[in-house]
Amino acid sequence: MTGPGSVSGTAQAAGSAIGADDLRQRLAKLSVEQKVRLLTGADFWALYPEPDAGLRRLVTSDGPAGVRGEVWDERDTSANVPSPTALAATWDCARVEGIGALLAHEARRKGVDVLLAPTVNLHRSPYGGRHFECFSEDPLLTARIGIAYVHGLQRAGVAGCVKHFVANDSETERMTVDVRVDERTLRELYLAPFEAIVREAGVWSVMASYNEVNGTTMTESPLLREILYDDWGFDGLVVSDWTATRSTVAAANAALDLAMPGPASQFGPWGDALTVAVADGLVDEALIDEKVVRILRLAARVGALDTATPADPADPAAHQGPAGASAGYAPAEIARDLRATAAASFVLAGNAGLLPLDRAGLGQVAVIGPNAEVARTLGGGSATVFPPYTISPLDGLRAAGLDVAFAPGALAHLRTSAARAPWLLRPDGTGPGAEVRFFAPSGELTGTEQRDSAAFRWMSGFGAAGATESVARLEVSCVIRATDAGQYALGVSGLGHFRLLVDGAEILEATLALPEGADVVEALMAPPQRLTPVKLAAGQSVSVLLEHDVHSSPMAGIGTFLELSLEGPHGTDDEEIAAAVSLAAASDVAVIVVGTTAEVESEGFDRTSLALPGRQDELVRRVAAANPRTVVVVNSGAPVLMPWAQEVAAVLLTWFGGQEFGHALADVLLGDTEPGGRLPTTWPASEAGVLSTQPADGVLAYTEGANIGYRGYDRDGRVPLYPFGHGTGYTTWSYDSITVDCNVPGGGLRAAACVQVRNTGARRGREVVQVYASRPDSAVQRPVKWLAGFAVVEADPGETVDVGIGIPERVFQHWSGEGWALEPGTFALAAGPSSASLPLAGRVELR
Ligand code: BGC
Repeated sequence: MTGPGSVSGTAQAAGSAIGADDLRQRLAKLSVEQKVRLLTGADFWALYPEPDAGLRRLVTSDGPAGVRGEVWDERDTSANVPSPTALAATWDCARVEGIGALLAHEARRKGVDVLLAPTVNLHRSPYGGRHFECFSEDPLLTARIGIAYVHGLQRAGVAGCVKHFVANDSETERMTVDVRVDERTLRELYLAPFEAIVREAGVWSVMASYNEVNGTTMTESPLLREILYDDWGFDGLVVSDWTATRSTVAAANAALDLAMPGPASQFGPWGDALTVAVADGLVDEALIDEKVVRILRLAARVGALDTATPADPADPAAHQGPAGASAGYAPAEIARDLRATAAASFVLAGNAGLLPLDRAGLGQVAVIGPNAEVARTLGGGSATVFPPYTISPLDGLRAAGLDVAFAPGALAHLRTSAARAPWLLRPDGTGPGAEVRFFAPSGELTGTEQRDSAAFRWMSGFGAAGATESVARLEVSCVIRATDAGQYALGVSGLGHFRLLVDGAEILEATLALPEGADVVEALMAPPQRLTPVKLAAGQSVSVLLEHDVHSSPMAGIGTFLELSLEGPHGTDDEEIAAAVSLAAASDVAVIVVGTTAEVESEGFDRTSLALPGRQDELVRRVAAANPRTVVVVNSGAPVLMPWAQEVAAVLLTWFGGQEFGHALADVLLGDTEPGGRLPTTWPASEAGVLSTQPADGVLAYTEGANIGYRGYDRDGRVPLYPFGHGTGYTTWSYDSITVDCNVPGGGLRAAACVQVRNTGARRGREVVQVYASRPDSAVQRPVKWLAGFAVVEADPGETVDVGIGIPERVFQHWSGEGWALEPGTFALAAGPSSASLPLAGRVELR
């Protein structure tokens, strides 16, 4: 078996197969104005077409957990794959490559050429708001998973856009923060996944981040030219993060190729200003040409040039062009893939023999917790997609045919969500949804939309109803039908002026303002909310009208994001917890699903606490005290504190599990599928020693150097709750021997470890065999140990397997300041099932 340390590099070679002459000839047909026009987006997601160069409109889209496309709502649904941390938790490159291929199919279905993914910033701190969107705290695991993801996309002709280059590892002050990081740490940690993905997957585009690194904003940083272009030989496109281009001349000279979004008249700062800068000799036209060639090369690769050469001429099937890549992904197949991938990512962190549950003789299952009823399948921000459906834990366990009873336990969300079924009906009573009417400044009706949801996000205008300026007002109307008698909370979430009427009477009038210092994404995705109580009788229907003055929102130029919010009646937390505890006591087993939401873990801000929101810790403790057969399912994108971890019979960490979350959960709890995941990130026991993401005077200093994640714990001798790499399945393994071979065939590898493991349990299982390197007598300062390679293995009971794990040369090298250097001598290699359990020791002598 070949391990994931093996290095291959076909895509970069495929890229250079695109004729440079052809691109130059196309370039030669363009005036300076035409060329400069191409360098800023035409709108929020797309580039300008340029018929003179044979270039059609090229479309980009977020994002890592699905392909949203150009429409940001339920009318254009997307397969919602498990969150990127979950993908890394599989440690399974082949599986992740398959997910990349599935995403490529989704991209083609939606007319998308460039997927703004993967995110390969590191889990420097679990406070990071986009932790869920990144793979791991370890650069090697991040690189291997990222390479697989990009291979999956690009082999089907869709560009990856690896982001955010670089050191955008947290969100606080992300637009301006100056990350101070020494060169060795940058090279060995934060740049390492980008380098591997450029060199080995030949990624076709890279996104320059918002932040500064060592005093220069990344869209103007010398790292773009010196490292990305000159050192690594990247021949793809560098695109700015959205609105990250801050200058005309400096950014153009620094090798940024494309400023997004557009148009330049709205978002600047290129467009005409850049044409003038070229005329004034401040930016060399040759640089403009280089950027246009990079755009044309990308276009050729994704099939957006009129006579595009396939990306890999030897394998035309690998490049499907704009209409291709559609075969083989029926909805049932997508569901099967996502279900299996979610299960493969779940980390069984603790199990005192309770799991898997034995169906035979299983009595009532109490399903408890705020995240049991509403599936939390993704994190917040630009990674948001609109899945066609989601399977909640409750749905999944019911579908498995179990005798299920439900109690929410405690409310844990920070914001009330949009009104939904069964309460929300269209005005004519047909199905869940609402009608939206748009009005011009003259008061004339310009269009209507019949919608399936009460959450609305219009970007760059209102589609057929008109451009942003031609719509002054909109009205959302629907019927709310009460299921139970009680007090509902009805309201609005958005920016600007709103009126809310129930049966013709105004119940709320408010102007909701941008929170001070809010990030643009936070302002759009989690705007202020205002609710008002409404008492309804069981079965009562009321007609609801929400009016909004579009231009009263300061963000109207970018988009109008609003929701009609509705919360159903519920008891106090004390009442709900008491009800959950009695239900658990009366049940055979309790499955508590705790966690966060997309409002807690999101782009635009960091978490300030790792604790579970609301009274979830208390809920877990009291339920576990009432029923010793309690499983806690943690549905969060990133680590949360679990002070009760040792008091419960089993803990399953499930991330944001994608649309098939609940089905996968039932599969794993019942033992139909192995919980395949291993931690790609250290799970802290407390907040002590966890790295802060709060800048001081605009500076975030990475003073810890390379010691993030397990490296920091090792250095300080701290013990986390669950170590990096940890997780068990439903069988047991013995680690029998390791041999190390230095006669490897090259291809970037320096050694290979052969690890012999045996399935010592009673059922077939899956194991992630991990190898770590260390250098006890090093003359160079190094972490205590670092991941050197890994491989996934499956075996039957009693079966012995030899696992070959390739170890890349880079694992043994350090950045000397001048270049990569190898300190000759003996490196220790240790193998085992986690970073904290390494029973096998080997060594390798290197010169
Ligand atoms: C995010 C990017 C994203 C872009 C477009 C930015 O705010 O940082 O990751 O691709 O928006 O949505």
